Amino acid sequence: MNSFLSRTSSWVLALFLAVAAPAFAQDAATVSKNGVTPGTAAGATPAAAAAPAGAQGAGGGDAAAIAAGDALFKNNCAQCHAVNDKVVGPALAGITKRRSISWLIPWVKNSSKVIASGDEYAVKLFNDNGKQQMPAFPQLSDKEITSIMAWVTSQEGGAKAGPTNDGAAKVDGESGTAAGGAAAAGGYTDILLIVLVVVLIVLVVTLAIIANLMKDVLQGRKDLDGRDVELLEQRFDWTKLYRSTALRGIVGTVFALVLLYEGVQSVMAVGLTQGYQPTQPIAFSHKIHAGENQINCAYCHTSVYKAKSANIPSANICMNCHSQIKTESPEIKKIYRAIERKQPIQWVRVHNLPDLAYFNHSQHTQVGGIQCQTCHGPIQNMEVVYQYSALTMGWCINCHRETPLNTKGNAYYDNLVKLHDKSNNAVPFTVSSNGGTECSKCHY
Ligand code: HEC
Ligand code: HEC
Ligand code: HEC
Ligand code: HEC
Ligand code: HEC
Ligand code: HEC
Repeated sequence: MNSFLSRTSSWVLALFLAVAAPAFAQDAATVSKNGVTPGTAAGATPAAAAAPAGAQGAGGGDAAAIAAGDALFKNNCAQCHAVNDKVVGPALAGITKRRSISWLIPWVKNSSKVIASGDEYAVKLFNDNGKQQMPAFPQLSDKEITSIMAWVTSQEGGAKAGPTNDGAAKVDGESGTAAGGAAAAGGYTDILLIVLVVVLIVLVVTLAIIANLMKDVLQGRKDLDGRDVELLEQRFDWTKLYRSTALRGIVGTVFALVLLYEGVQSVMAVGLTQGYQPTQPIAFSHKIHAGENQINCAYCHTSVYKAKSANIPSANICMNCHSQIKTESPEIKKIYRAIERKQPIQWVRVHNLPDLAYFNHSQHTQVGGIQCQTCHGPIQNMEVVYQYSALTMGWCINCHRETPLNTKGNAYYDNLVKLHDKSNNAVPFTVSSNGGTECSKCHY
């Protein structure tokens, strides 16, 4: 009886260790991925608070402003900001509580002016973000900036920045609450996981204490036979754990799953060149030209607003300035040499869609009003250009599904918008509603 007890208890302990250790590791990973580390442990609280805010926004007349803010944010801010995560710039959650709208409007229009004015908050923010310059947005009106902030507020908490056609834009009282509810649910699962882990740890510790207590009691007894004493003095046998088929099964399955996941990931990445950053024949820096010297993109990429292709500037354009600036630099001498030899500079192409796909710059930049940075990332900060977006079909299609068409002041769209509003007023008029996900639009 005694030996049976001690044997079972040590086995139960071993089993718990085997189960609890990987479970704990996994939970810890999930928890940190969801950002519920002690520093941001409030994860669930703003989520709960977001529910009433969301409902309020969707119920009132703000819904249109929030939808407009969503589109403006995606087109202008999303490459550097997210609501709940830091990207290039800080997470914007809670911004309307941190700053008044009368501070935010001049900031977004021209942040460097606010910093230069010596505003204490702005200077600190700038320094805390490694002195990165946020681009100026003089073209945004006060109302547009206010609507961006309204959208940001509607997205605060755990809720992911949802696409326009299912989130705040669906103008009914329910959607706000639903989004808030989902966010709150996310918070609760995190808490549940933490509670489970704590319970497991407590169980393991309690079992260890019980096992030790039983050992102590048994050791005090005189009537034990040889086998019992042997068992009592036995240490925990790791080789047994190693030989356990159950454990091998678990480890084997986990290993196979990881392998499968990695395999699928690498197969999916075939033909993807995201992040591609070739070395160029001349150390041309967009940071110096488009960033520090604020030369307009179209000064060099002259056809980007007018044609399918954004051209690469010829050496003549460089000479507009470099016949005077930095004439002695070895890199600039390379431009002179190319001109003397009457040979073009052999820039290495970075972005390259396969021939089966049709992409037109002017449609996106001029007609759609999309900023270069939305697709090309923070080019103005790049010493050497790299491919920022995936350029997959899914990337094109997702944006077409989510982006409302910029139809204002474009008579071409007037009738289409009228027809759309008549038949399907609740859904915004996106690129996709206009046929932007039909195969033949992008494939020859
Ligand atoms: C190219 C990157 C970039 C883009 C695009 C961008 N920002 Fe920023 N933003 C930053 C950086 C970096 C900071 C931190 C301040 C600094 O370093 O100047 C910042 C700071 C801010 C802040 C202050 C945040 C705080 O915690 O106080 C607000 C508000 C803001 N941005 C709003 C916007 C809005 C609205 C847009 C779109 C219209 C936008 N930003 C576009 C990079 C960007
Ligand atoms: C002074 C001229 C100049 C200005 C201004 C300029 N570029 Fe460029 N850009 C170039 C040159 C030259 C190349 C080719 C060399 C390279 O890739 O760095 C290039 C390459 C690029 C590429 C990669 C093209 C490829 O091979 O796929 C992109 C994208 C790009 N520029 C975007 C921009 C954007 C966006 C701006 C404005 C923020 C801008 N450029 C401003 C001269 C310029
Ligand atoms: C509108 C004016 C202008 C144009 C056009 C222009 N640059 Fe520049 N470039 C500058 C300025 C300003 C600097 C910074 C000079 C300094 O640091 O003193 C610079 C710096 C450079 C440098 C760094 C030189 C060094 O040794 O530090 C290179 C390389 C360069 N440019 C290449 C090019 C190439 C290639 C083109 C054409 C695709 C071009 N630039 C077009 C204004 C221009
Ligand atoms: C909607 C996304 C999108 C926007 C907005 C955009 N580009 Fe592009 N850009 C692309 C894609 C996709 C390619 C690759 C095109 C190809 O290979 O046919 C590209 C290629 C380029 C190239 C290489 C030459 C070429 O045409 O293939 C340059 C230079 C460039 N873009 C500059 C710009 C500039 C400057 C802006 C802003 C005025 C801009 N782009 C806005 C998606 C975009
Ligand atoms: C950042 C968002 C965005 C991305 C990414 C994007 N597009 Fe677009 N696209 C738009 C918008 C907005 C329009 C509508 C412009 C307009 O006509 O007002 C559009 C329009 C088009 C059209 C014309 C559709 C029509 O109805 O005539 C084609 C074709 C197209 N895009 C192809 C592409 C391809 C190919 C890619 C990927 C390589 C791509 N787009 C990536 C936003 C995007
Ligand atoms: C908004 C633009 C767009 C639309 C709409 C679109 N595609 Fe694509 N498609 C692309 C782009 C861009 C690529 C190239 C992506 C890459 O290289 O990874 C592509 C690639 C493909 C490929 C892969 C070819 C290869 O060699 O890998 C197939 C097949 C394809 N598309 C079929 C379709 C079909 C069928 C439809 C209609 C249901 C469709 N596409 C609609 C943009 C589009």
